[in-house]
Amino acid sequence: MLSPPIVTTVRELQARADGERAAGRRIALVPTMGALHAGHMSLVKAAREHADRVWMSIFVNPTQFNDAKDFDAYPVDLARDLALAAEHGVDLVFNPEARELYPEGAKTWVDVEGLTDALCGASRPGHFRGVTTVVSKLLLAARPHVAVFGEKDFQQCAVIRRMVADLGFGVEIIGAPTVREPDGLALSSRNVHLGPEARAQALALVRGLDAAEAAVARGERGRDALLARVEAEIGRAPLAEIDYAELRDPDSLEPAPAQLAGPALLALAVEFRPGPGGQGKRVRLIDNRVLAPAG
Ligand code: PAF
Repeated sequence: MLSPPIVTTVRELQARADGERAAGRRIALVPTMGALHAGHMSLVKAAREHADRVWMSIFVNPTQFNDAKDFDAYPVDLARDLALAAEHGVDLVFNPEARELYPEGAKTWVDVEGLTDALCGASRPGHFRGVTTVVSKLLLAARPHVAVFGEKDFQQCAVIRRMVADLGFGVEIIGAPTVREPDGLALSSRNVHLGPEARAQALALVRGLDAAEAAVARGERGRDALLARVEAEIGRAPLAEIDYAELRDPDSLEPAPAQLAGPALLALAVEFRPGPGGQGKRVRLIDNRVLAPAG
């Protein structure tokens, strides 16, 4: 089977990182939880533009799942992931056991305040604490010059940028644009769980984003009016339940003013129930767009 070299221990990864750095080579890290798709491959491509070595971590991080069922159901296919990583020129895969990153008796967490209170932080308590803790561990293990994350997880990018600045990690965080299916659905490892009806209705997210963007282009600036349009669009999908639809400042993630005066992040999280015949699972999808009122 085609596979990049696999490293499973922090110690070996650090030694390799020191070797690359001593030889003057730049390292880019692409952290993933596996279940790779074209979105991850776009992160690899972006990473390649910034470094001589592209390393990928594949680790389903237990501490960022606030629902144990979600963790158990997370799709895992390492052989397929390794083949895809090799095909896309990944130079090394870090694939540790949970015990390697969370040793017996581990008591240390990294927590970013404020930015994690709203949006996914509000609906998934503890999620970002798990993300920032594991990303810290991955950065300390791989010692990369840059790390690449998908902008579909806009809040995650903002939180990680804050953490890296606050703790002086000395790594550049690159956000890569969301990759979409031809019909507009943002790629996600969770999409495989959508039954056929929910898959069709999942386009409600991108339709909601499009509707808001079109309204802004026509001159609408009212926050509540824009959100009402988005909610109406999503409301046309009977299997959809809105978790949040919010307009926020793209940097601070504070709520946007009642009248938009500058760029605003439209962030959506929507749960889709299985279809009436029970096809598929309950799936929570997120998507976002920065709306930029002209002038
Ligand atoms: O975005 C993800 O896949 C995860 O949150 C990350 C950054 C790999 C941390 O586990």
